[in-house]
Amino acid sequence: MPELTSTPKLIICLLILSLYPISLKARPFILVLSQDDIKDSAASTDDESAADWDDFGDSESMTEENLDPGSWSPVFEPSIDPGAINGSYYITISKMMSAVTNGDVRVMEEATSEVESAAMEGDPHARSVLGFLYGMGMMRERNKGKAFLYHHFAAEGGNIQSKMAVAYTYLRQDMHDKAVKLYAELAEIAVNSFLISKDSPVIEPIRIHNGAEENKGALRKSRGEDDEAFQILEYQAQKGNAGAMYKIGLFYYFGLRGLRRDRTKALMWFSKAADKGEPQSMEFLGEIYARGAGVERNYTKALEWLTHAARQQLYSAYNGIGYLYVKGYGVEKKNYTKAKEYFEKAADNEEAGGHYNLGVMYYKGIGVKRDVKLACKYFLVAANAGHQKAFYQLAKMFHTGVGLKKNLHMATALYKLVAERGPWSSLSRWALESYLKGDVGKAFLLYSRMAELGYEVAQSNAAWILEKYGEGSMCMGESGFCTDAERHQCAHSLWWQASEQGNEHAALLIGDAYYYGRGTQRDYERAAEAYMHARSQSNAQAMFNLGYMHEHGQGLPLDLHLAKRYYDQALEVDPAAKLPVTLALTSLWIRKNYADSFLARLIDALPEVYPRVEAWVENVFMEEGNVTILTLFVCLLTVLYLRERQRRNAVQAAGDVALPNQHNEHAAAPFN
Ligand SMILES: *[C@@H]1O[C@H](CO)[C@@H](O)[C@H](O)[C@H]1NC(C)=O
Ligand SMILES: *[C@@H]1O[C@H](CO)[C@@H](O)[C@H](O)[C@H]1NC(C)=O
Ligand SMILES: *[C@@H]1O[C@H](CO)[C@@H](O)[C@H](O)[C@H]1NC(C)=O
Repeated sequence: MPELTSTPKLIICLLILSLYPISLKARPFILVLSQDDIKDSAASTDDESAADWDDFGDSESMTEENLDPGSWSPVFEPSIDPGAINGSYYITISKMMSAVTNGDVRVMEEATSEVESAAMEGDPHARSVLGFLYGMGMMRERNKGKAFLYHHFAAEGGNIQSKMAVAYTYLRQDMHDKAVKLYAELAEIAVNSFLISKDSPVIEPIRIHNGAEENKGALRKSRGEDDEAFQILEYQAQKGNAGAMYKIGLFYYFGLRGLRRDRTKALMWFSKAADKGEPQSMEFLGEIYARGAGVERNYTKALEWLTHAARQQLYSAYNGIGYLYVKGYGVEKKNYTKAKEYFEKAADNEEAGGHYNLGVMYYKGIGVKRDVKLACKYFLVAANAGHQKAFYQLAKMFHTGVGLKKNLHMATALYKLVAERGPWSSLSRWALESYLKGDVGKAFLLYSRMAELGYEVAQSNAAWILEKYGEGSMCMGESGFCTDAERHQCAHSLWWQASEQGNEHAALLIGDAYYYGRGTQRDYERAAEAYMHARSQSNAQAMFNLGYMHEHGQGLPLDLHLAKRYYDQALEVDPAAKLPVTLALTSLWIRKNYADSFLARLIDALPEVYPRVEAWVENVFMEEGNVTILTLFVCLLTVLYLRERQRRNAVQAAGDVALPNQHNEHAAAPFN
């Protein structure tokens, strides 16, 4: 019977799908705390955790290479660290990259052997790569246990990306106490890679697909110097437009819009713009000089530029000045009173950084009486404006239970959010660059590496590449190119991980795969689990499916009340779901009130009739599909209902007692 039962859902899903486009936009992370989370501050002033970390950070010459040892950046950005490229580790990585670019299995095997022997000699970075290869089942047998082991030892040896992988593994296994420790460490490293007082822009990895389609819009904007909009901007900058200069500087500084990161070019554009009096560039120069990022650190210069920017009412620059006063850098002497004044000025002008800095002052009692509750409030304001360091502080509060009630789930989630902004996120820039160059194999490899570090976008990008490009993805299996089965297994596992992390498209794909038994064993329970993942993101379609599964007791207990609740929720989340929900509620109502009636059985049997009708609809009424389907559905019900009544009347007239079961073999297909 399975084929029968699945069809109405399909129909109704089709309806929903046609009613509104799947939205894959990342949802903004809004932190909502209940009174429950807020802890009485009286209980928690006696901790010493406040003393052991420097929240204003000193970022002592923390280059990204120091923060992320073993990073592949020398292979992709040779300008950064030319000396390292000759190390045998990097030669091996380069070999691997060229193997997937050219689809050369022999070279891949060679590189893998080199990685293996270096790993055996104890090189942590080689171990990290070997863990990756085992995890993906590339050139070696897929083996999660070995993968974890290699990552574990690599992490112990100081490879940070392996720490990400291990933390993510713990998280997936709900071992929050272990995950939280690693993520705390990783988030701290990430925070140390940020600018001094200015928040780095949130650089989301680009989602290269939108549902099943390539995300053309996002890709167009990521073509770097080839992008038309960028060329126009560059033209304007060359003509002397200071705003354009600033933007270009920003793009180069962070490697946005598909540009190669280039600190020298960034500095040049910022300086040009600053000479023309562009305040944001001045602030950036201040930050760059304070951080010593790509220039010789010079706090005097930093203060000069920040002051210039502040004079033009760029309030975020006050944060930088405040920082210098907290530290006593570039100013006569430390002055907390002055620092606080600057932070307040920024906060009064709705600068999230100002709130954050005031939070730190109150949290640590710097120049003010310590007030954890107030600090928490400031952090919340900053966090809800997207301030990354504030996420970090709140995570810390959830972690230690100072200021907020201890909550390892929340702590882990927030730390992870921050940790994913660490230097290792560069992988996504290289992957995208490769993808745009048509080097799908390299893009797939890089996204896969990111996927194991726990990046949801990378997981779905990699899975999508596998499905879209098939053999063209140069996916390497246990021995040579992936077989169809290997590719399928790999994609499935990636989609599953993405769905766990709330990717709706992935959750629905996985749910449907289990529901219909597509490429996997039919499994209603796993389907329900996957739909639950999407539901947690308020996905109307997933809710609808869950309602349907409750209604029919598939994978979930038969529960008409719960079914109705899911249907209602679906409607609440998305008014566009009105039509299918109405239909479903109608059928639910009939089922409830006339459980054994002919009509209820009729509804169950509709699926069998439906495909023919549907095919007809597609041929005849393609355009007004929705209206037609509704009309047909209603007509069908009415006609069948009338026929039933007619029949009943006839039967009654004949004084007979009909056995409903025998009435219509066609319609009364047994259910389940
Ligand atoms: C790498 O080594 C070669 C010779 O072995 C040398 O010519 C080249 O300059 C080196 N490259 C870097 C970036 O050090
Ligand atoms: C820092 O900048 C100031 C002002 O621009 C300059 O006078 C000073 O020599 C610089 N210090 C160093 C160490 O370069
Ligand atoms: C710190 O700054 C405040 C206000 O700007 C000022 O009144 C005070 O004298 C300064 N303190 C020191 C020690 O310089």
